[in-house]
Amino acid sequence: MAPPKTYSSISAFHSKLLGAKRILAVCGAGLSASSGLPTFRGKGGMWRNHEAMSLATLDAFERDPGLVWMFYGYRRHMALTVKPNAAHYALAELARKVPGFMCLTQNVDNLHIRASHPPSQLKLLHGSLFSIKCTRCSFLQPSNADDPFCPALAPASLPPPPNQPHPILDPNTPLPSVPAQDLPHCPKCQIGLQRPGVVWFGEQLDHQMLEDIDKWIEAEKVDLVLVIGTSGVVWPAAGFSEQARTKGETSVVVVNMELEEGGRNNRPEKEDFGFEGDAAVLLPRLLEPIIGRMVVEEEGEVRWVGGRS
Ligand code: APR
Repeated sequence: MAPPKTYSSISAFHSKLLGAKRILAVCGAGLSASSGLPTFRGKGGMWRNHEAMSLATLDAFERDPGLVWMFYGYRRHMALTVKPNAAHYALAELARKVPGFMCLTQNVDNLHIRASHPPSQLKLLHGSLFSIKCTRCSFLQPSNADDPFCPALAPASLPPPPNQPHPILDPNTPLPSVPAQDLPHCPKCQIGLQRPGVVWFGEQLDHQMLEDIDKWIEAEKVDLVLVIGTSGVVWPAAGFSEQARTKGETSVVVVNMELEEGGRNNRPEKEDFGFEGDAAVLLPRLLEPIIGRMVVEEEGEVRWVGGRS
């Protein structure tokens, strides 16, 4: 494999990293790309013949909850099928080594959690595919990994034929229409339809979580912000690095497959360090002076050697 392209010096970044007490990460879909999950903008942005983002709205759910649930049933299934990659593990280890590290993620795939990221140092900005919310009384089931989520969504959870894409992705394969009465209803109020516990376009992020993030950023100078695998066009995530900079001298490092195009967070000329390539390759290397090197045991267990004690 060709070495990752970078435009900054890794050793200069390492000096910054070693002096950093408070570190913030803002992560996006590119972090999970090498696990096998598609990103939103770019070629992974279609689901069948629908723009993936057009299905992530309350309007779409109200119009056709069966279709939207099928989309989310498929995303749940895929997220359960893939594994966290070295970048998720590297961030989890950074959290254990640096108490002043906070990771904000836009990803709803639960891969940070499956990589054992300490929960107190992780904020799920856009919720989780595996939490379930009532559309009527907002009762929240924090963790549900049933696959399929209910019998009517079974087509989304079928294993694809070997070496072929999942049949549900082919717009020419008919999709059974799922009426609302075949979808799960709230176990508490018994009336409301359940929906994925993710934040859809046009919805507010959890108020308390945003307040906690503001408090964390405002508490003291943030030495380093890592902006990883995000196009940086969705707010409020896109604004956290600039917010951190207002507290004093903050270095911002962007890790992205494509540095030159896109939104504000992946334009290297606005940042202090930019590293172009796969986050799963780059992050373990960038964080190595603190986390050491990752060793994967035969049973798939991950351990770290040679990190900062
Ligand atoms: N390593 C690093 N970066 C990568 C990789 C990779 N292997 N693969 C892709 N990228 C980069 C792309 O260049 C792009 O800049 O990841 C970014 C992914 O951008 P988006 O698809 O826009 O994802 P994200 O920024 O997370 O989107 C934000 O938008 O649709 C909503 O709610 C959804 O949380 C999502 C939000």
